[in-house]
Amino acid sequence: MAPTSLIPLVLSFFLSLSINPTLPSSLINELNQPPPPDFPAIISNNCLKDPSLRYCNSAATDITNIYKSIVVARHLCTESNNSDCNVSFAKIDLRSRPKVTPLYLSFAFFWKYCPLSVLSIDLSNNSLEGPFPSDVLHCTQIQSLDISLNKLDGTVPLEDFTLLSNLSFLNLSYNHFSEGNIEEIAFFERFNSSSFLHSGLFPGDHHYGFKVTTAILLLIGVLISVVSVVGCFGWVFVRRPDFLPSFLWRSHKFTVAMLKKATDGFSEDNLVWRGERGKIYKGRLRDGLEVEIKVQRGRISAELHRAFDEECRVLVQLRHKNLVKVLGWCDQRELRAVVMEKMWVCSVEGWLLGSPPWKQRLKVSMEVVEALCYLQEQWSSIGYDLRTRNVMLTEDNEPLILKFKVGDQNTKSRSKYQNRCFLGNDCFLLSLGAEFMLLLSIIEGQQ
Ligand SMILES: *[C@@H]1O[C@H](CO)[C@@H](O)[C@H](O)[C@H]1NC(C)=O
Ligand SMILES: *[C@@H]1O[C@H](CO)[C@@H](O)[C@H](O)[C@H]1NC(C)=O
Ligand SMILES: *[C@@H]1O[C@H](CO)[C@@H](O)[C@H](O)[C@H]1NC(C)=O
Ligand SMILES: *[C@@H]1O[C@H](CO)[C@@H](O)[C@H](O)[C@H]1NC(C)=O
Ligand SMILES: *[C@@H]1O[C@H](CO)[C@@H](O)[C@H](O)[C@H]1NC(C)=O
Ligand SMILES: *[C@@H]1O[C@H](CO)[C@@H](O)[C@H](O)[C@H]1NC(C)=O
Repeated sequence: MAPTSLIPLVLSFFLSLSINPTLPSSLINELNQPPPPDFPAIISNNCLKDPSLRYCNSAATDITNIYKSIVVARHLCTESNNSDCNVSFAKIDLRSRPKVTPLYLSFAFFWKYCPLSVLSIDLSNNSLEGPFPSDVLHCTQIQSLDISLNKLDGTVPLEDFTLLSNLSFLNLSYNHFSEGNIEEIAFFERFNSSSFLHSGLFPGDHHYGFKVTTAILLLIGVLISVVSVVGCFGWVFVRRPDFLPSFLWRSHKFTVAMLKKATDGFSEDNLVWRGERGKIYKGRLRDGLEVEIKVQRGRISAELHRAFDEECRVLVQLRHKNLVKVLGWCDQRELRAVVMEKMWVCSVEGWLLGSPPWKQRLKVSMEVVEALCYLQEQWSSIGYDLRTRNVMLTEDNEPLILKFKVGDQNTKSRSKYQNRCFLGNDCFLLSLGAEFMLLLSIIEGQQ
């Protein structure tokens, strides 16, 4: 076997491995076999009977490739669902077979000796890439050729088509060929435009310049939009955080303007509570969130400012379903405010007036205990004021602890802060019933 004839063999072997490991291994095996000893005789015999067979001219010199072409022909015949594959076959049907089609196209020896019986070749819908598979045009006798729905590019060898004198069906549609002068070749007059739809062969198929310009313009547009959106966002983020949905706030810092906006300029209508040390307003943030805002006016020392700031920084980090959610704060020279999400509808104090059922009281108190556990475990520096008026209830009877004391107090003063509650008449646990003293003792015991 000549080394040159080995190359396509080895190549096809590896191709078959890489492209389609499922291709019958028998094909690969057969291609690796030398022709049987009597093969030259068979060929000669065939050529005597039918001298027009393609291999007859080169039979003497190219036995191996002729043998392989016949092996491939037999497999391709079966692959194409022809009925009788040991004699001759009429169609090569590799439509929608993207795995095996490139492999069969790579068998140049097959196409060189394209069986005369083949009248139709369908390679459509295979995502074929690269140049036009010119080897196919060796089958000059074909009447039908379909190469549509692929991704072939480059020039189509239009002149070579004129050899296909019996071709009556052609489909080159949906490819990426470069423009060709089909109109100038009489041969193609027999085909109408539906043979060349979006093939790239006509000027109308090419919008590349246009496409590139459009793409660049589009890209610039997108870039500008992105930059402006990011810029806007950044500006809003820094200058007007109230324009953002509240969940996006990182700083938790409110400006006086934002508070004014939320409370209609601290209007009396929104005043909920007025005390010696400050006022509480209800309000609504720009994104619709209902809030309650505790406001304290007047100058205070720098040290107190710092303490307030530190306290707020801690409060906004509390995350428990039974602790009121502190959204942020405002710390200006003349005004300090804490903004809380208003999720509650009443206080436990008010609720108890309606003598709620025992079961609900238990549920509420257990949830309060949960929140206390959370505070104990994660925020041991935070004290809480458990008077019934300071524990609120949501619509779903979820308690929310409203009042905390953060910061400088040591454990002793903290427990004092709690004890004041526990001893008072309006102590949350006491009010709920004597049994809660048990819970209380459990909690206290934990400390
Ligand atoms: C080929 O024939 C087999 C059965 O012989 C059938 O299952 C298959 O659908 C056919 N394929 C095509 C493309 O006609
Ligand atoms: C083709 O093969 C079938 C069965 O494999 C056989 O019956 C038939 O004779 C063969 N035809 C020729 C021309 O060899
Ligand atoms: C093309 O092939 C894909 C699968 O590879 C198939 O889903 C699709 O229906 C085929 N399209 C045509 C027009 O045959
Ligand atoms: C076209 O068909 C005719 C009649 O079947 C045949 O004689 C001729 O050889 C064919 N042309 C080619 C190029 O095969
Ligand atoms: C184009 O030719 C095909 C046959 O090859 C025919 O079915 C189709 O109707 C023709 N289309 C037009 C637009 O003439
Ligand atoms: C060629 O293939 C395309 C895509 O499947 C189809 O739209 C067109 O009608 C076909 N043309 C002919 C002549 O069959």
